[in-house]
Amino acid sequence: MTNPLFDMTGKVALITGSTKGIGRSIAEEMARLGAKVVISSRKADACEQVAGELKAQGFEAIAIPCHVGKKDDLQNLVDKTLEAWGKIDVLVCNAATNPVYGPTSEMTDEAWDKIMDTNVKGTFWLTNMVLPGMAERGEGAVVLLSSIAGIRGNTTIGTYGVSKAAEAALARNLAVEWGPKGIRINSIAPGLIKTDFAKALWE
Ligand SMILES: NC(=O)c1ccc[n+]([C@@H]2O[C@H](COP(=O)([O-])OP(=O)(O)OC[C@H]3O[C@@H](n4cnc5c(N)ncnc54)[C@H](OP(=O)(O)O)[C@@H]3O)[C@@H](O)[C@H]2O)c1
Repeated sequence: MTNPLFDMTGKVALITGSTKGIGRSIAEEMARLGAKVVISSRKADACEQVAGELKAQGFEAIAIPCHVGKKDDLQNLVDKTLEAWGKIDVLVCNAATNPVYGPTSEMTDEAWDKIMDTNVKGTFWLTNMVLPGMAERGEGAVVLLSSIAGIRGNTTIGTYGVSKAAEAALARNLAVEWGPKGIRINSIAPGLIKTDFAKALWE
């Protein structure tokens, strides 16, 4: 550890959607910085695989599968993390969905609901489950994954962009509500990153 500013020794970090892409990179980096990391996605085998690879490198990791659009799954994710490690210091709400490409005017009600439920409501649920525990301990950090698509309009992923703008707004508001209790809440808005999620865009 060269820079103590980024030392995460003893911290428990829960990262949703951490078997691939951006979430996996965040989990790996936090593990390298000393955090105990919770690896999570919808697929139990993928979670076990990634957690196993981290443990093989000498890091602390556990696998807890969870679909972020399902409230029971989210509660189980939080409960199992607390059972294993007793606290959550860092929460990264990274998993998101974008099932359709095309103009917002052609979006079906079903697709709109799926995007909003998974990306916005799931994040609202999970933050509400985790923040009270952080407030009791007077510290914690939460990161919500927004997107450049939440800042600029575009012709193909507009509804997804609306959900990402909502996540940024949620972060701003949670920061006002929970900041006085010692919790930092931020959202980050990546541009195009070459992951499976964005394959249709960068191909
Ligand atoms: N890539 C980009 O260009 C870009 C740009 C801006 C923002 N973002 C944001 O960055 C975040 C991560 O994207 P990514 O590009 O890294 O995606 P990715 O490479 O496709 O990885 C997504 C991860 O989330 C999991 N996941 C997907 N749906 C889930 C669900 N409903 N519940 C729980 N886990 C789920 C996936 O595993 P399973 O399939 O096993 O569940 C996987 O671990 C997203 O919030 C996205 O909106 C991405």
